[in-house]
Amino acid sequence: MDLFEHQARQLFEEHGILVPRAEVVDTAEEARVAAARLGGRVVVKAQVKTGGRGKAGGVKLAADPAAAHITARQILGMDIKGHTVRSVMVAQPVDIEAEFYVSYVLDRAAGCFLAIASAEGGMEIEEVAAERPEAVARLAIDPVEGVTPTRAAEIAAAAGLPADAADTLVKLWRVLIREDALLVEVNPLVRTTQGEILALDGKITLDDNARFRQERWGAERETYDEELEATAAAKGLNYVKLDGDVGIIGNGAGLVMSTLDVVAGCGARPANFLDIGGGASAQIMADGLSVILSDPSVTAVFVNVFGGITACDAVADGIVQALESVRLTKPLVVRLDGNNAVRGRAILDARAHPLVQQATTMDGAARRAAELAH
Ligand SMILES: Nc1ncnc2c1ncn2[C@@H]1O[C@H](COP(=O)(O)OP(=O)(O)OP(=O)(O)O)[C@@H](O)[C@H]1O
Ligand SMILES: [Mg+2]
Repeated sequence: MDLFEHQARQLFEEHGILVPRAEVVDTAEEARVAAARLGGRVVVKAQVKTGGRGKAGGVKLAADPAAAHITARQILGMDIKGHTVRSVMVAQPVDIEAEFYVSYVLDRAAGCFLAIASAEGGMEIEEVAAERPEAVARLAIDPVEGVTPTRAAEIAAAAGLPADAADTLVKLWRVLIREDALLVEVNPLVRTTQGEILALDGKITLDDNARFRQERWGAERETYDEELEATAAAKGLNYVKLDGDVGIIGNGAGLVMSTLDVVAGCGARPANFLDIGGGASAQIMADGLSVILSDPSVTAVFVNVFGGITACDAVADGIVQALESVRLTKPLVVRLDGNNAVRGRAILDARAHPLVQQATTMDGAARRAAELAH
């Protein structure tokens, strides 16, 4: 789960990293009051879980509380890359001498963490890395050892950051470890004209596997996708929202992954990943179907089941019972194979629901679902 900038800021503060004074508000009037409390001149920043806020006009300087009111009114409600701005952070401006880039990210391929740092902060790091890769230092971090003061000094030296940024690098690592994060990014980390090192922006992605330890962030749902995923999670489903239009239900993560590939191979795009696992009770099938059918981008659903310990007739019974409680509104293509497939298919044939079709092969079913989706 991604955190908002103001939540990242809060974690930075708790770990002793310097941040500008700031308040989060959701009305223009509150922004005016906050600006007055913070000394008048402020930066008003859109709180959305996406990058490029500044470029989109979501980060603006306001000269006084009245200007903060006007600016907040402009930014609140703004759409930034599909994210609606529901709150803004009103922050004290700092006098910037230099802007740097720092992040710790999990490098899955290398099986370790990576420190990425650059003396060219403030702008998009992807652009810096593409144009001048030598300006971006990348150092592997041993996950057991972590970022010690010595390692932090090495990162700072490799990236051309001032030596006194090393202390902040150590603290940012603590944020990553103690808060169960997979990504901690600060862009920009700045050195002020008074010589202080401050985090002016923050992006943190928490490890969802540690959600039970991070319940204080639990209630925040920003996008519709997050809401769908939360609904599915509450029903105990392994569901991940994707951006296509063919809803997918399968048993076993490996089968579901290959189902996504086969659907993509037919020129369609999967709308989700959903693994209903070993059991295929009517309840799980109904829960899975209801989540998928509530996704407005879904235009057809593909149920792909290979019967093993869970036999296909049990899955077919589950589908038939689920059709009692869930109103099917979109075509459903079912492929049953493996243990008791013939019996399973007969059960679905007997139900003869007008929107349910069967296919005997995975490829054939994927092609049919792709056709129906379009
Ligand atoms: N409190 C502040 N005081 C002075 N300048 C600031 C402050 N906050 C932000 N800025 C300036 O605005 C720039 C953009 O701010 P920020 O990094 O928070 O947004 P962004 O990078 O555009 O958003 P995103 O990270 O979503 O792409 C910073 O690089 C910095 O120069
Ligand atoms: Mg930024």
